[in-house]
Amino acid sequence: MGRRKNRIIESVEVVDIVTKGKGLARKDGKVIFIENAIPGDVVDVRIQKKKKDYSMGYVYKMIKPSPQRIKPFCEHFGNCGGCKWQYLSYEQQLKYKEKIVHEAFTRVGKLSFEEILPILGSEKSQYYRNKMEYTFSNSRWILPEEAEAGIEIVERNALGFHVPKLFSKIVDIHECFLQDDFANTIRNAVRTFALENDYSFYDILNHQGLLRNLLIRNSLIGEWMVIVSFGEKDESKTEQLMEYLDKTFPQITSLHYVVNLKKNDTLFDQNIICWKGKGYIDEYLEELKFKISPKSFFQTNPYQAVKLYDVVRRFANLQGDETVYDLYTGTGSIAQFLARYCKKVVGVEEVADAIKDARYNAKENKLDNCHFVVGDVKNEFNPQFVQKHGAVDLLITDPPRAGLHETVVQNILTIAPPRIVYVSCNPATQARDLKLMEEQYRIVNIQPVDMFPHTYHIENVVLLEKR
Ligand SMILES: C[S@@+](CC[C@H](N)C(=O)[O-])C[C@H]1O[C@@H](n2cnc3c(N)ncnc32)[C@H](O)[C@@H]1O
Repeated sequence: MGRRKNRIIESVEVVDIVTKGKGLARKDGKVIFIENAIPGDVVDVRIQKKKKDYSMGYVYKMIKPSPQRIKPFCEHFGNCGGCKWQYLSYEQQLKYKEKIVHEAFTRVGKLSFEEILPILGSEKSQYYRNKMEYTFSNSRWILPEEAEAGIEIVERNALGFHVPKLFSKIVDIHECFLQDDFANTIRNAVRTFALENDYSFYDILNHQGLLRNLLIRNSLIGEWMVIVSFGEKDESKTEQLMEYLDKTFPQITSLHYVVNLKKNDTLFDQNIICWKGKGYIDEYLEELKFKISPKSFFQTNPYQAVKLYDVVRRFANLQGDETVYDLYTGTGSIAQFLARYCKKVVGVEEVADAIKDARYNAKENKLDNCHFVVGDVKNEFNPQFVQKHGAVDLLITDPPRAGLHETVVQNILTIAPPRIVYVSCNPATQARDLKLMEEQYRIVNIQPVDMFPHTYHIENVVLLEKR
């Protein structure tokens, strides 16, 4: 059984790219989805999952690479799980992203619409992220070339990213092209300091070791936040590392540490201590100022965030007297972006800390027409809520990848706002939700925006009008 499931299908030609960036091939009338394959590749596929109508697998052997393939620019490509589309030129990536949106709307949603506007690409396709999280590990991923050479592995400690699907192994990262290059300088210096001073690196399987995670955030105005997460209490070593970072990098404007003794790495429920600096960094989008605390959510590509919000603003076409609802508001950035052009904005978000930041930011930005509510959209956004806060002239919704809960769709249909701007990071769930709304709403505009070059992720904004 097992062997049949993992069988190899020889010499298939990839003809398309579909959702989640998988290559699509056909063999004997059946569809095969292949990881890390692009149109034009001829490959042997190892099948990992076999269903009635389709199979899923990965490239077992490259027979003939697609002429579209280019040389990935990063030395860690193939070992690290990020930036998976580096083998495509940026222009090709954009074409495929447009196509993925088109497929989602036609095949998944079977929706009617006139056109999809050309995707808004990113001027910066490298060094565009403002937040990266690295993991310390005493179990470095041994590179295939090291294994093949049979050399003795002396250094097993690593600071970098998880190997895809192998959570306990970490790729030791020397250069990453995602965040400003200064992040490379900080990360590499921390690794060297830790190795030279005998700090233990975390054992992910046994939950022991001092150094656990390194989080680096920055903003467009040149502020830097560093958070070191320790897996054990060691005041002396914590102090030494903090002193080292403080003295070596005066550019760090907010330096923190946390002792995380839990089994998982998340910090939302941990006490993050500010060692030096103001405790947060500031970011600007147009003239709006946003305070980003260690636990705050903020769009991770600030260059494209402005473009994305500008699309929302254009679709919203506000005249000044509207009441706008911003569901899944996060730290209220879309809400504040629009508050300058309408009568009132009501934002709903389930993370209390995010709403705290949203209220603080709105006050700092002198916007007194924003009202923020903590709660699950599924429970909050209903006819009673709207009765309390005022009739909806425009609804913005920006849910997580899973899309809208059915109850939320039902409530939207009952409340029936005249216009809706649906921002999504997953066109497939967006298309599914729009299908449920199709009887009452007409698609007016569709605008994909690329927030994450070299990945298959796409942000898509849709304007809907009540029929
Ligand atoms: C894609 S983010 C959008 C953030 C914001 N619009 C922005 O541009 O920064 C989705 C947000 O929805 C929040 N969220 C997820 N599920 C939720 C729910 N059921 N109810 C309320 N908020 C939720 C998340 O915490 C997150 O802040």
